[in-house]
Amino acid sequence: MSLPSGLLGAMALRLGLLLALLGCTTAPDAALEEAWEGHPRAPTPSHETEATRREVWEKNLRRIQQHNWEETQGQHTFRLAMNHYGDLTDEEFNQLLNGFTLLRQEKPAPLFQASAALKTPVEVDWRAKGYVTPVKNQGHCGSCWAFSATGALEGLVFNRTGKLTVLSEQNLIDCSRKLGNNGCHGGYMTRAFQYVHDNGGLNSEHVYPYTATDTSSCRYDPQDRAANCSAIWLVAQGSEAALEQAVATVGPVSVAVDASSFQFRFYKSGIFSSVLCSQRVNHGMLAVGYGTSQERGRSVSYWILKNSWSEAWGERGYIRLLKGADNQCGVANQASFPVL
Ligand SMILES: *[C@@H]1O[C@H](CO)[C@@H](O)[C@H](O)[C@H]1NC(C)=O
Ligand SMILES: *[C@@H]1O[C@H](CO)[C@@H](O)[C@H](O)[C@H]1NC(C)=O
Repeated sequence: MSLPSGLLGAMALRLGLLLALLGCTTAPDAALEEAWEGHPRAPTPSHETEATRREVWEKNLRRIQQHNWEETQGQHTFRLAMNHYGDLTDEEFNQLLNGFTLLRQEKPAPLFQASAALKTPVEVDWRAKGYVTPVKNQGHCGSCWAFSATGALEGLVFNRTGKLTVLSEQNLIDCSRKLGNNGCHGGYMTRAFQYVHDNGGLNSEHVYPYTATDTSSCRYDPQDRAANCSAIWLVAQGSEAALEQAVATVGPVSVAVDASSFQFRFYKSGIFSSVLCSQRVNHGMLAVGYGTSQERGRSVSYWILKNSWSEAWGERGYIRLLKGADNQCGVANQASFPVL
């Protein structure tokens, strides 16, 4: 009789973890050679060796495997997978990717508050209604704020024109600096909407393509007004009830979450909730709906959030985030949407 392979895998994993805890990670694991070679990664900076990168990657891989083993034991409701951000340390990743900081002082704006009189549907998914463009990829640039903003504007344009137009993040990156946005080093969805408002338009991705850099000057072309914005609404801070009503009645809404945990970075599938997630938001995303599913005999509600880390991340580029429990990852702390 042989041991089930799953059990063997779990034992090997435990062993790997023990070694890692003892600090024995300097010798690369030969069994992982092929996986490392196939890992899509940025060119190794000249000041470090490939071995250093590989060590980071192997450490991340072990953490992912440990999490997935815990998931099989019922300790988590979601699984992780290695992805194109796997050779970055937590610190590097958060410096590079999470380009949103909490705005303490928003400009005065109309506030969307939950209304007791409003009944919302049990499920909403704007993707099915044609409001949402394909998942994009911000690359190694902290421009999440621009992707979150174009997502909300794309929904708005679709509602008004019946046409789905992919909008330009690069236009926002290159042209909204004077409003306090900082290109690949962070920005704010509300200030992106403000730019579109002040500028009287935003170009399409087709006319003004994404480069994942922030060193170009503004090349806005007034001949291509693919979007407009006449006002900006804020959703009552911290209220998932208000956010639900906004998503149900308005369309896709820009939100910010705490995406700094390794679990969020390597999320693959399931309903995400984590004790590692705080209320300090640092990453712009797009709420495109919400729903409920049966998980291990319990009914669990979730937000459907569109990310800008390519389709390789999460559920084809999306995450289902636990909804209605405790404002998980601060999802309702900084929600906003443009109107026309
Ligand atoms: C746009 O939104 C309004 C009000 O929410 C709605 O009645 C209308 O059907 C929407 N249009 C499209 C094309 O979805
Ligand atoms: C935006 O506004 C301009 C000027 O009012 C108008 O010509 C254009 O059609 C609008 N575009 C969209 C996508 O709403």
